[in-house]
Amino acid sequence: MNPSFWDNRYAVADFVFGTAPNDFLRLGAERIPAGPVLCLGEGEGRNAAFLASRGHAVTAVDQSATGLAKARQLAADRGLTLATIVADLHDYPIQPGAWAAIVSIFLHLPPRLRARVYSQVATGLQPGGVFILEAYTPAQLAFGTGGPKEVELLPTLAGLRAELAGLDFVIAHECERDVLEGTGHTGRSAVVQVLARRP
Ligand SMILES: C[S@@+](CC[C@H](N)C(=O)[O-])C[C@H]1O[C@@H](n2cnc3c(N)ncnc32)[C@H](O)[C@@H]1O
Repeated sequence: MNPSFWDNRYAVADFVFGTAPNDFLRLGAERIPAGPVLCLGEGEGRNAAFLASRGHAVTAVDQSATGLAKARQLAADRGLTLATIVADLHDYPIQPGAWAAIVSIFLHLPPRLRARVYSQVATGLQPGGVFILEAYTPAQLAFGTGGPKEVELLPTLAGLRAELAGLDFVIAHECERDVLEGTGHTGRSAVVQVLARRP
């Protein structure tokens, strides 16, 4: 999906995915060591603002300038700041060894780009840094409660294990849960959740 799709989707007063953080990230955040955090495909900033409120210096990357403008405002409303970078992840190299955590929440990339980005995730973490991901799996196509309709955009745990080679998987499962995160994600869903640490 191109930037104008997401710019249009975010060009509303409400936050499409809400202003509260993703449930899995909220639980996993306690395992993030002190240090800077990179949020990939961060959209309107709910997760970045949450992590900034926990004391992290947060950089949010997304292809949507409209989404990131809302992210900066959401953070400012809470007395927080974010670094924001409008970029397609095709063109954004993740700096090696730089991040205490990298976060990917409901970011659904085409397979070749996903493999490239996640191989950079594995090297982009500091030793001890963690990667936190939640995404819809192919089983989500039966639910219709959010996410893309193209099966190739929906990762599996087996595929993520290969793409994230080099990380130790601390939490890694596919499951069903009720995702109630804004109007964009609304009900019983099939997801994969990963929390993985760089040794
Ligand atoms: C479903 S939204 C999730 C937003 C946010 N992570 C959240 O959970 O609220 C997916 C986001 O990924 C971004 N995205 C998708 N493909 C991207 C790409 N190739 N480069 C940068 N951002 C991308 C979209 O612009 C969109 O903001």
